[in-house]
Amino acid sequence: MSKHRVSRRQFLSYTLTGVGGFMAAGMLMPMVRFAVDPVLKADKGGNFIPTKQKVADLTSDPVRVDFTFKQKDAWYESDVTNTAWVYKNDKGEIVALSPTCKHLGCTVGWNTDKRYPNQFFCPCHYGRYEKDGTNIPGTPPQAPLDVYPFKEKDGYLYLSQAKPRTGA
Ligand code: FES
Repeated sequence: MSKHRVSRRQFLSYTLTGVGGFMAAGMLMPMVRFAVDPVLKADKGGNFIPTKQKVADLTSDPVRVDFTFKQKDAWYESDVTNTAWVYKNDKGEIVALSPTCKHLGCTVGWNTDKRYPNQFFCPCHYGRYEKDGTNIPGTPPQAPLDVYPFKEKDGYLYLSQAKPRTGA
């Protein structure tokens, strides 16, 4: 027989702590998973969504490309439509920009303010961006438009999740 006997009080304390911890973990895990799930999905980096845009049809003029995908938040699944401004730059490289203004999140349009041609314009507070997405000093946005990673497959443009621009 062991010398270390467990008193009734200790037994109850251990049991309640164990059961309480188990229940807390059971309640917290879905919350933690719900919070970090989008982050984990983004880190996979392989979620390219097909668009109806043919790469061969892209020119130097930005065109609006809408693409829809299914998004699952916990048990709720919904269709989400994102938009990109896409064109080919002087080197023939594809540029895919997020239309979400970096000031307060309104949607920017291409060439919509005739006073400032060939710029992206945000109507909310008159934010402006160069064609490559660089924010124009003296207007409210303090950062360039996010960029979409992209790839071409079977002649069509595929887009992933927009990310802030890295580097200069
Ligand atoms: S939200 Fe675009 S300038 Fe303010």
